[in-house]
Formats: sequence, C-alpha cells, structure tokens
Amino acid sequence: METKYVRRGAGFRDGLKGAARCLREGGLVLFPTETVYGLGANIYRHDAILRIFSIKGRPADNPIIVHIHDRGETEELWTDVTPIAERLMERFWPGPLTLVYFRKQSVDGAITAGLDTVSVRMPSNTIAHELLRLASVPVAAPSANLSGRPSITAFSETKMEMGGMVDYIIDGGRCRYGVESTVLDITGKEPVVLRPGAVSLESIRKVAGKVSLHPAARGSIVAQEKLPSPGMRYRHYAPVHATLYLFEGVRARERMLRCFEAVKGKRRTAMLVTAESEINAGDTYIMGSALRPITISRRLFSMLRLLDSEGYEIILSLGIDEKGLGLAVMNRLRRAATAINPEIIEFQR
Ligand code: TXA
Ligand code: MG
Repeated sequence: METKYVRRGAGFRDGLKGAARCLREGGLVLFPTETVYGLGANIYRHDAILRIFSIKGRPADNPIIVHIHDRGETEELWTDVTPIAERLMERFWPGPLTLVYFRKQSVDGAITAGLDTVSVRMPSNTIAHELLRLASVPVAAPSANLSGRPSITAFSETKMEMGGMVDYIIDGGRCRYGVESTVLDITGKEPVVLRPGAVSLESIRKVAGKVSLHPAARGSIVAQEKLPSPGMRYRHYAPVHATLYLFEGVRARERMLRCFEAVKGKRRTAMLVTAESEINAGDTYIMGSALRPITISRRLFSMLRLLDSEGYEIILSLGIDEKGLGLAVMNRLRRAATAINPEIIEFQR
C-alpha cells in the first residue's frame, strides 16, 4: 500500500487534517508523541484495531493504551473517575502518564485484551494533541515499532519500520523523552507503577502519596506467574542482530571493560556508556550524561537501532542510577538485555 508522509513545513496543517480524517474513517496513522511514536487507530473501528495487532505482530493478550485530547472522553472509557484519578490528571495531563482503571463494557475487547480495565493517556505533544482533536475520537495507539523491537523515537526511523504498511506517517522530529509513558494502575487502594516511564516515580508520589512499584516493573526477569500488565511478559526493545549485555552493580565499569578486552578480538563489540564513565576505547558510544538521565532516555532506543545497523554482534552496556528517568532507562536496558550467556559470565569474573 501507499503511505502518505506529512512533513513539517508548508502544507503540514492540511496534511494533518487529511491524516485525522483517515484515522477517524478507520485508517492507521503513525504519529509523534512526547514519549515515542505511536501507531493509532479509531477505538470504534474494530477492523483497524485488529490491523494494528497484525502489522506489529503483537500478541493478542497485550492491551493497547487509548489516547485522548479532552478529559471528558474518559466518560466513554472508564466506569467512573476517582479522587486520586482527578488529582493525577490535574497534575500530569496532558503528559506522559497512563492511567489504568475499570473500563466500560462498551470498550472494544481487542483494545483491552479481555481485561476489565482500560489504560488512558493524554499526550502533551502538540502534533499528537491536534491530530486527536481533529479526529475527535479516542485513539488506541501502541508504540509504532514491530513487536519486540526498540520503540521509534525519531521521524527518520519510521519509514524503514512501517513505510508501506500504514496509511499516514506524520513528521514530529525527535521525541522529547525517548522512553514510553509511565503506566500506573489506580484500580486498587494504592496506585501501582506497572511500567516506569517518562513521569518519575518520585513525582507521582508527591501527588498520590504511597505508590508502589510492581516487582516486575524494574525490568528484571520474573517467573511466569500472572502479571498485571501483559506487556511485562515479553522480551522487549531488543536489537535484531546484536546481543546486549548489561553491567550493573558492584564494579560494573571494571567488569565491562574486562569483558570488552576479552571479546573484542573475536566478535564485533561496542560499548554503550555514560559521559561520566570516562571510557574512550574504540567502539565506545556515549548514551548521554548520568547526571541528566533525560539526555540518555532521549537517545536510548535510537542508539540501540544505530548499533544494530552498524553491524555489531555484541553490545556491552553500563547501567545507570535508578533515580528519576533512570528507572525507566534501566527497565528498558534490562528488558533489551539477554539472559547471561556462559561465555560472557566467564569474561565477567
Ligand atoms: O508512551 C507511550 O505509552 C506510547 C505512546 C505511543 O503513547 N505507547 C506505548 O504503548 O508505549 P505500548 O503498547 O507499546 O505499551 C503499552 C503498555 C504495555 O506494556 C501494555 O501491556 C500496558 O501498557 N497496558 C496497556 N493497557 C493495559 C491495561 N489495561 N492493564 C495493564 N497494562 C496495560
Ligand atoms: Mg511498545
């Protein structure tokens, strides 16, 4: 199929109108948000929702976030609005906080993957906001990557991933945060973070008081028990060709360097480090500054895609502090990393 591109500059406004009309009428539109690019469909078009699953290769048991531009739209989605929801929406919407709450029966079961909840967020990105306003229907939108791959955080990455598969692709340049929204479950007595993201746990606690972090939300591999967020079950964000190994904890820097020395002659190996790590051997890539985790989150997924396309077989990455956006960054790195390979374990000693 032919994909229409809406580029910045002259004609953008008309292009956006065309995309909104198409979205409303059941087409699929790839659009920028402040977190990552999304692949959107009208929530009232079951056929379009199913197309999202099929294009992404997404498992049917993984529910999709509904995007809105006006708080009133929650009435079509949630059974009611609790005081805690009110406070969170007041403080964080529009912005990268997704709230999971009990759904109305009328919400398409494909969007919610059969759960009794539906997740909702109101993006702050002005292009996303305008698209949603013009479409004037709530829009279900997962991240616009193929299932399991790193999310798309720049317009330049959209064509290779989804060109020819969707109706419209809208140019929004590079996404501000580069990691997805924070997913917060507010169905219980105390809110629970299911996925750390662009809104920090610390800032949510300032508004909601006691907030817990789901044990699986830090990103380490957990047992196959029933997880509240189906997305937690799958390995995610992984480069296609390269294998990523993450070094965190005691003497992570030294362990990683020793590993690099041992592997580099045998396999094409890159290191992904922070500016502060003072590592500058060949094939070293700086993720950003550990002092400002947004400089890391913003480029993280693009870095993984870049290293993959550069033909590296092994990526050794240094972990960062789990403060602020660092928690989301570590969740993504852990989930992109491979369970430790015995060969690498040997090098780590
Ligand atoms: O920033 C974002 O959230 C981006 C942009 C496009 O808005 N979207 C995004 O969607 O990251 P996706 O589909 O890649 O990730 C949504 C996550 C999944 O882990 C999914 O399992 C979880 O949210 N989720 C969605 N609805 C849920 C629900 N009702 N209950 C629990 N988890 C839910
Ligand atoms: Mg995703």
